[in-house]
Amino acid sequence: MGSELLYLNGSFLPLSEGRIEVEDRGFQLGDGVYEVIKVMNGCLVWLADHLARLERSLAAVRLTEAAVGHELEEILPRLVREAGVAYGSVYVQVTRGPAPREFIFPRPPRPTVLAYVRPSEPPTPAEILAGVALHPVEDLRWARCDIKSTNLLAAVLAKEEAKEAGADEALFLGPGGVVREGGSSNVFAFLGGVLRTHPLSNRILAGITRLHVLRIARREGIPVEEREFSLTEITEQAPADCEVFTASTTKDLRPVVRVGDQVIGDGRPGPVTLRLLDLFRREQALLVGLEPPPALTSRLQG
Ligand code: PDD
Repeated sequence: MGSELLYLNGSFLPLSEGRIEVEDRGFQLGDGVYEVIKVMNGCLVWLADHLARLERSLAAVRLTEAAVGHELEEILPRLVREAGVAYGSVYVQVTRGPAPREFIFPRPPRPTVLAYVRPSEPPTPAEILAGVALHPVEDLRWARCDIKSTNLLAAVLAKEEAKEAGADEALFLGPGGVVREGGSSNVFAFLGGVLRTHPLSNRILAGITRLHVLRIARREGIPVEEREFSLTEITEQAPADCEVFTASTTKDLRPVVRVGDQVIGDGRPGPVTLRLLDLFRREQALLVGLEPPPALTSRLQG
């Protein structure tokens, strides 16, 4: 099963022993960026994609030099190996580090670079097939959602509101009810025979799961459009064959069976979602050297 293990500024130690300075700018100002990477069969899934996005986030907040000297492509696999974690996730965070509290950058900065691995249990087929409910909220986040910043207060409040409303995930809506993304996931809809998702922009995170779902769908000949759609299109105007799902590193693909009070499709995962889920799960298993899991499609029919 493995245990939690932390890498902090060059040292490996138990997670509970990690200490951050009070004036770390990540803590006081949210002046930092992060990544979450899935661990499966002891492998970091799509590590190169996550490290490339971390580079982009660091450049966007002018912290490009911060990770120099921390060879994350070697440190992260070592962390997972030494912790003995087969399944779980790795969290990586880079901040502008400790400095007397001041908004302008410390010069030179003394960045904090940390990563830790935590084991967890993979979701069961029953959990995946149960689907999730989304709770629509106005998107009150800042206008640089393409940066994976540790400023997550708007998402924290939205996801808490979703939970209190009996839903599993928040759904961020822009003006006109445009579906942007989930609280910590991207959102897809299968509408009129086309798989749709919000185009890449400053309003959403360029999800790694999103990227691979789009690639798999295109490879399979499923029509795909990175084009905005509105909440009304998936609720009021939704045809019976409308499907919605979320995509994220921590939850993979999750069929959406309800948005607000509106049941999606017939309230069960749709065939396109299940096909993509099966293809996705098969591909991840093969990538990390595991037997492909039994198809969910067959389970649902049986
Ligand atoms: N969140 N959109 C937002 C706002 C997110 O926070 C996330 C991921 C995604 C999906 O991105 P990816 O497929 O690369 O995980 C989309 C992570 C999992 C988190 O904050 O825990």
